[in-house]
Amino acid sequence: MTDMLQRLPAPEVAQQLTDDFDGLLTCVEITPITHDVTSFTFALPGGAGLIFAPGQYLTITVEVDGVQLERCYTISSSPAQPERPTITVKRSPDGPVSTWLHDQLRVGDVVSAAGPYGLFSTATHPARKVLFLSAGSGITPLMSMTRAMRDQALVCGSGSGLSGPGLGEPLDIVFVHCARTPDDIIFRAELEALAAGGLAAVTIICQDDSPQEVWQGPRGRLTLGALFAAAPDVLDREVFTCGPPRFMAAVAEHLTLIAADPARSHRESFVLDAGAPASERALSGTSHLVTFARSGVTVECDAATTVLATAASAGLRLPSSCQGGVCGTCKSTLLSGQVDMQQAGGIRQREIDEGKFLPCCSTPLGDLEIDA
Ligand code: FES
Repeated sequence: MTDMLQRLPAPEVAQQLTDDFDGLLTCVEITPITHDVTSFTFALPGGAGLIFAPGQYLTITVEVDGVQLERCYTISSSPAQPERPTITVKRSPDGPVSTWLHDQLRVGDVVSAAGPYGLFSTATHPARKVLFLSAGSGITPLMSMTRAMRDQALVCGSGSGLSGPGLGEPLDIVFVHCARTPDDIIFRAELEALAAGGLAAVTIICQDDSPQEVWQGPRGRLTLGALFAAAPDVLDREVFTCGPPRFMAAVAEHLTLIAADPARSHRESFVLDAGAPASERALSGTSHLVTFARSGVTVECDAATTVLATAASAGLRLPSSCQGGVCGTCKSTLLSGQVDMQQAGGIRQREIDEGKFLPCCSTPLGDLEIDA
């Protein structure tokens, strides 16, 4: 009896949970996933837990060669493990932050992080039947959603069929993942285990063989035929897509061709094609003055043109990635003036209250002064 009592957690050490983190995360585990993809698991100060929706991401800041660089990485772990948020990062030859994480970060080191951010989630768009479409490292948010559904099913004790509280019927996951070669399949063992356990219908498509393995499954890219083969009932499903721009464009084309409901199709990509145009609407004919205070530059900005596009036209390169209000990379401080910001989860209300905004999805409502 005494032993049992001693094992109960004392109320004063009960886990603290937060859904609004901005501080230092300690790396507690590093797990190789493929030859160029690694998972990094972190602990919050004091053993606290992070409340997040599957599919959300963290903004990580590291110092590379004396320069603070910020990138966002999707949390790949399940919300059922709030005390161990994990990001899964593909090494990019042109990505100083991913390179730094792979080469420099060790267990016990700390990084600055903020989040969670983002609206790309099964929590935001709940459905009984889902179709996950990913390519490359775009699998990370979809794996977090899948893990969340799996953990939810375990809590529900529903046996092999996934079921969720409030949904009434078993959940139904179709997961299609595209990789370059078998060596590049992220979370391969877990995908195969999900399929073997009947928890998801999994299709993996590879473009080529790897030196060690001749791919036995579907080959090539995600065609409309392959999409229908994996999910004949695609029109009945809530679709979540994440991957590089070409993949996103192909999926969008397929879904348009079959007249899928755009309201049931959700997508996220933090990377734009090189040379993709900055988001601009047709000119309004009204303009305002935008001053970039640190650069000492003042330019006219049409009321329908984003601040980011205006900065670019003035020769200023503000950091940016998604250019759609999703990733938070362009977050800047508005020193004066007001903007019309059409963000998509890339900024928190607390940050807006502090005077921050996202230039990529903001148009001026009057003259602006920006700390850039
Ligand atoms: S560039 Fe992604 S939110 Fe602005």
